[in-house]
Amino acid sequence: MTEQKPVSDTAATKVTLPDAQTVNSVTHWTDRLFSFRVTRPQSLRFRSGEFVMIGLLGENGKPLLRAYSIASPAWDEELEFYSIKVPDGPLTSKLQHIQPGDQIILRPKPVGTLVHDALLPGKRVWFLATGTGIAPFASLMREPETYEKYDEVIMMHTCRTVAELEYGRQLVESLKDDPLIGELVGDKLKYYPTTTREEFHHMGRITDNLTSGKVFADLGLEPMNPETDRAMVCGSLAFNKDVMEVLEGFGLREGANSEPREYVVEKAFVGDGI
Ligand code: FAD
Ligand code: A2P
Repeated sequence: MTEQKPVSDTAATKVTLPDAQTVNSVTHWTDRLFSFRVTRPQSLRFRSGEFVMIGLLGENGKPLLRAYSIASPAWDEELEFYSIKVPDGPLTSKLQHIQPGDQIILRPKPVGTLVHDALLPGKRVWFLATGTGIAPFASLMREPETYEKYDEVIMMHTCRTVAELEYGRQLVESLKDDPLIGELVGDKLKYYPTTTREEFHHMGRITDNLTSGKVFADLGLEPMNPETDRAMVCGSLAFNKDVMEVLEGFGLREGANSEPREYVVEKAFVGDGI
């Protein structure tokens, strides 16, 4: 049994909540980004790509919860999350200090649109993400169904700097040798990371690299086509809006769980960014 620690970082609140999970590991990627793994409630079933509400006890003793994509796949024994650190953020100014053995609150009610069931069958799937928007795709890239359903999986991830790409880069790198899914992934997964504010071998916004055709030329792929291509989008509101326009320009239409079509979208966060 793991020792029960208070959920809040203030020693004053020693409460054990029914939805508490224990932190197993924490990795800091930059001064703005970290990831962590927690225990998974035995009863929690989710579809890769969905999000849940997680948080800590606030100073008033009430849960302070925020939406978080589950970054681990549905088959994983633990749950992984990839998080921003907002300096004055009510939750992340505290969450960034969690350590192994601490507890967080996790409401076991997964929801979301970035799921395979919300797309019509196709040959290629494009995962389009900025910043922490890669989190649902960290789950879907490790999901066997992704490779069973598609011949090609293209992960485009754009951040301002090279360091902000590192979580995704290491994850993609690790897939090759993954004993569970490595063989299934094979050479189906094409990773196209770019930066916009620091020199890198591939640069530019996802929207620009799609409209100019640069990504198709660089990867040796045919342009997007609504007959064969499906897409999932996760980034800031501005990014989502602009990339939706680009996808519509290629003839893809937005779908949902209730009405599967060619692409689906989810917000990576609410607000204008920091
Ligand atoms: P908040 O008061 O929630 O946010 C303050 C401001 O910080 C926001 O107005 C916004 O401008 C900025 N901000 C918040 N989150 C981000 C972010 N992720 N990237 C860049 N700027 C941000 N956040 C994650 O870090 N990882 C996730 O997997 C994740 N999944 C989400 C899924 C959904 C469906 C939604 C709606 C949000 C998700 N978020 C995710 C955002 C998350 O819910 C919180 O906003 C974030 O944890 C910051 O919480 P906070 O209380 O510290 O600050
Ligand atoms: P840029 O540096 O050109 O603004 P942020 O850190 O602001 O959330 O942005 C994350 C990444 O998403 C950055 O590389 C940023 O590029 C890019 N981005 C921001 N807004 C858009 C948009 N409307 N369309 C395409 N890419 C965007």
